Amino acid sequence: MIEEQPCTYVIFGATGNLSRIKLMPALYHLEIAGRLPEGTVILATGRRPWNRDKWIAEVKDMLIAKARNGLNEKVFEHFKQRLHYFEGDLSETSMYSKMREFINNDPTFPQNLAFYLSIRPAEFGTVAQNLSESGLLDEGHGWRRVVIEKPFGYDLESARALHQRLSRYLREDQIYRIDHYLGKGTVQNVLVFRFANVMLEPLWNRNYIDHVQITHSETMGVGSRADYYDGAGAMRDMIQSHLLQLLTLVAMEPPASMEAEAMRDEKVKVLKSIRAISPAAVHAQTFRAQYTEGIVNGEKIKGYLQEDKVPKDSVTETYAAMKVFIDNWRWAGVPFYLRTGKRLKEAQSMISICFKQPPQQFFRANQIQRMRPNWILLGIQPTECIKAEMTAKEPGLEMNTRPVSLDASFRKEEDVSKDAYEELLLDVITGDRSLFLRYDEVEYAWRVVNPVLRAWAMERDYISTYSAGSWGPRESRRLFEREDLRWRHSLNIEED
Ligand code: BG6
Repeated sequence: MIEEQPCTYVIFGATGNLSRIKLMPALYHLEIAGRLPEGTVILATGRRPWNRDKWIAEVKDMLIAKARNGLNEKVFEHFKQRLHYFEGDLSETSMYSKMREFINNDPTFPQNLAFYLSIRPAEFGTVAQNLSESGLLDEGHGWRRVVIEKPFGYDLESARALHQRLSRYLREDQIYRIDHYLGKGTVQNVLVFRFANVMLEPLWNRNYIDHVQITHSETMGVGSRADYYDGAGAMRDMIQSHLLQLLTLVAMEPPASMEAEAMRDEKVKVLKSIRAISPAAVHAQTFRAQYTEGIVNGEKIKGYLQEDKVPKDSVTETYAAMKVFIDNWRWAGVPFYLRTGKRLKEAQSMISICFKQPPQQFFRANQIQRMRPNWILLGIQPTECIKAEMTAKEPGLEMNTRPVSLDASFRKEEDVSKDAYEELLLDVITGDRSLFLRYDEVEYAWRVVNPVLRAWAMERDYISTYSAGSWGPRESRRLFEREDLRWRHSLNIEED
């Protein structure tokens, strides 16, 4: 059921980075789009001794820095009416009862409460407990929803422990687990592309698809997040979450409907069907590496071990690749290659679907000339597009062929781009959980990567390296089933 009722959006950790660069701008952009239900209030909480005026001034600065097309003063005048600040330390239990009074005493605060926990994941359990014990989760006069963002645990066991703790205070349908990747336009387009067109479905299976590559490459390094990242690494940070989510969307069966539960049922089925990676197969199916110094976009970059707060003997991977097989009727035998890395040559997120070769190769000018396979490429960011690569005859007298790219870029100039958080924050208000993770998705995604993390944790004396600004170690190609396969780096036609 989708509703549009006003709510009190309580943001824990409102003075932190995520709130500054994503949450407040997203709420403001929803205001511009006229999508915040009238009466909705945004209650920021933080330890800083600020009052409402100070908070409004802070938000204004955040928006001046981040609003698309600059800050619209008129919209802001309306938006700021919604802004409130509540000073408090979330580790103090008395804070919650005071907050409850604060909300109850102001009749302009709607009684539907959404709590966005933009705080350290280690604090999720305690905050949920305190919210519950103070009565803030009682649903007498309105709904209660709690939004959390990954990491949901550190491995399978800790994910289960977190889930058990949260389940003591919250029903599953009250927990909104964000994977911000699902709020990205092209990610949702994977579903539209697959299920609103009839041309592809007959080809979308093991009979025609040779393999699938899912890539998220970044030019950025760990920045100021080394204390989190060094304990996580690329496998936990990106593959366990975002890339496995992308895989589910590419591989899932058509759901019974686009309702949240129907969608999530199908996604979980995919995760359950991924063949477990045995300890003996970890080497053959996975690869990890760490960047050393190099040059990215013309700028000299230090190596991972020289980054602030990274231990000098760290073997945390900043590059990870993994091959998985989905043992079901549709995908048996089709490898899915997932790859991510920091400080790579270019920032590119894309899904590349490589088709099988035609059964006969008529048009090779000579024996060594290779026919190119067809590809479907879904650009997620920075370019949002869908492309198909096919083979055409070169103009001229000879029967030579060349690859051509059919570009179905769907962005029009007048299209307003949006940030993933806008849609996700709105979905919390409307109660649409289809873009949020159900616990079993989290559990089964951990089950996929857990054996790998275990094996890697035991081999702590060596890690491969790559120069910042490269495409990662060539050795990662050992994951491929065949010698002639390559990582696909670009949405443009690539030279052989
Ligand atoms: C986050 C990871 O979840 O996703 C980051 O923790 C990563 O390490 C980021 O950089 C990538 O997402 P986006 O939307 O910034 O490309």
